[in-house]
Amino acid sequence: MTLQELSLFCLLLLSVSLCDGKLQCKEGHSGPTHESIQAVFDLQSFRPAVNLSNPTVTNISFTLYAVLGVNEKAQILTTFLWLRLYWFHEFLIWDPDECDGVTKISLPVKQLWSPDIIVYEFVDDDVSQACPFVYVNHTGHIRWDRMLRLVSACNLKIFSFPFDVQNCTFTFGSYMHTIRDVRVSPALTFKEMSGNSKRYLEASGEWELVNILGETSILQFGIDEWDIITFWVVIKRRPILYVVNLLIPSSFLMIIDILSFYLPPHSVDRASFKMTLILGYTVFLLIMNDLLPSTANGTPIIGIYFSVCLALMVISLLETVIITNVLHHNSMKYKEVPNWVRIVVLKHIARLICYRWLEDEAPATKQEEGKSNNLNCTSPPTVTQTENNVPVPHSTSNYGGNCVSLPELQQICQYVGDLRAHLQSLQKESELQGKWCHVGYILDFLLFRIYLLLISCYAMVIICMWCIWISQD
Ligand SMILES: *[C@@H]1O[C@H](CO)[C@@H](O)[C@H](O)[C@H]1NC(C)=O
Ligand SMILES: *[C@@H]1O[C@H](CO)[C@@H](O)[C@H](O)[C@H]1NC(C)=O
Ligand SMILES: *[C@@H]1O[C@H](CO)[C@@H](O)[C@H](O)[C@H]1NC(C)=O
Repeated sequence: MTLQELSLFCLLLLSVSLCDGKLQCKEGHSGPTHESIQAVFDLQSFRPAVNLSNPTVTNISFTLYAVLGVNEKAQILTTFLWLRLYWFHEFLIWDPDECDGVTKISLPVKQLWSPDIIVYEFVDDDVSQACPFVYVNHTGHIRWDRMLRLVSACNLKIFSFPFDVQNCTFTFGSYMHTIRDVRVSPALTFKEMSGNSKRYLEASGEWELVNILGETSILQFGIDEWDIITFWVVIKRRPILYVVNLLIPSSFLMIIDILSFYLPPHSVDRASFKMTLILGYTVFLLIMNDLLPSTANGTPIIGIYFSVCLALMVISLLETVIITNVLHHNSMKYKEVPNWVRIVVLKHIARLICYRWLEDEAPATKQEEGKSNNLNCTSPPTVTQTENNVPVPHSTSNYGGNCVSLPELQQICQYVGDLRAHLQSLQKESELQGKWCHVGYILDFLLFRIYLLLISCYAMVIICMWCIWISQD
């Protein structure tokens, strides 16, 4: 620096201080002179306060413009803010009357002192677009509008997903300057900020802004104190996507599972139907896994809900296995129904569930013929002739004029006897089968009622829970 330049610099500094801290204007020149502004630029490193005991007050306001993403696993909320900072620069003051009526000029923010306001929750690089200029008032008020892509750490709770409400904190404050140098305060009321944000929130995806609350406080750390503003941004998930994609298909599968109890267990293979349903549900769970958020510190209750649904389906399959076992008791070689079963099931439980049947009537009327492995659940075939009604061939019959010889007659008699014995055994088997059928139907009826009760309780609990969550905001 030459001596001449140095003297000019000193002169400029002098002129700033001499003219009561005001910028100078020249005749025929619009606005403050470039030299006087340059002199202020040279003071860029220093906080623009005449008396350093007075803190620089920074007023902050922001508008939430977009909710870009919520990462439950990393516990990160990405938002886009329009941030506006105001502060007072005590050296940038001029008289508009002297300066051709200019009241406002723009200056590069890099050349001026600016408060180091940060968001404490910021956890990523700042990739926001740069906003290099500020507006300066003739009274020294500076306004700096900037965009901020805020990647903030937030404690996301997904227990009530997809009806969750997230409450994330943005803490604005100076990183370095303590309360004696920089103070912060909101430029607008929190209500105004919340209203503006609701009006301008464009790309919010599945999130809905509920409210923005705030509070100014003092952060104490050791002997130093920092002035901070804490904002609470409350956002709510729009659950419709998840209700349509997850809850409704799941309920459909559950309903089909319930309705499959109306398949007659003896004629249709109910078990394989239910297996197919479980398979379908498993595929559904696989797809759903991509949609569900996951964190280390908790599972959403909807995941538990799906697991319980699957468990219920497995229980219903188990029930079918038991009933099928009873119906095909000992695989076609029927035994007598034990006495205790007859008393417990056919008497007590049947009365309990109001199961009525006529002794001779078949419990099921819609049986399918033509399936070889089907159980015939009708009443025993009516081979109801009694002993003395058996048509005994008369030995003296004179049929067709041919006399039948005695040995042949005896053989026929023996055949008829065999036939009768066979028919009787068939009849007995059918009777036993019918008894077991009744036992099976009664048990099926009872277990189905219990299952229905279980599912209704479960559905009630889940619906109540979600209703409470929906109405919570
Ligand atoms: C600066 O301001 C404080 C109070 O605000 C006052 O006590 C002090 O005298 C001032 N210093 C100067 C140099 O004016
Ligand atoms: C900041 O806001 C306060 C009121 O909250 C106001 O008195 C002050 O002038 C504002 N400062 C700036 C630089 O806008
Ligand atoms: C500019 O100055 C006027 C009058 O002092 C004030 O009301 C207004 O808030 C200032 N604007 C800015 C951006 O500081």
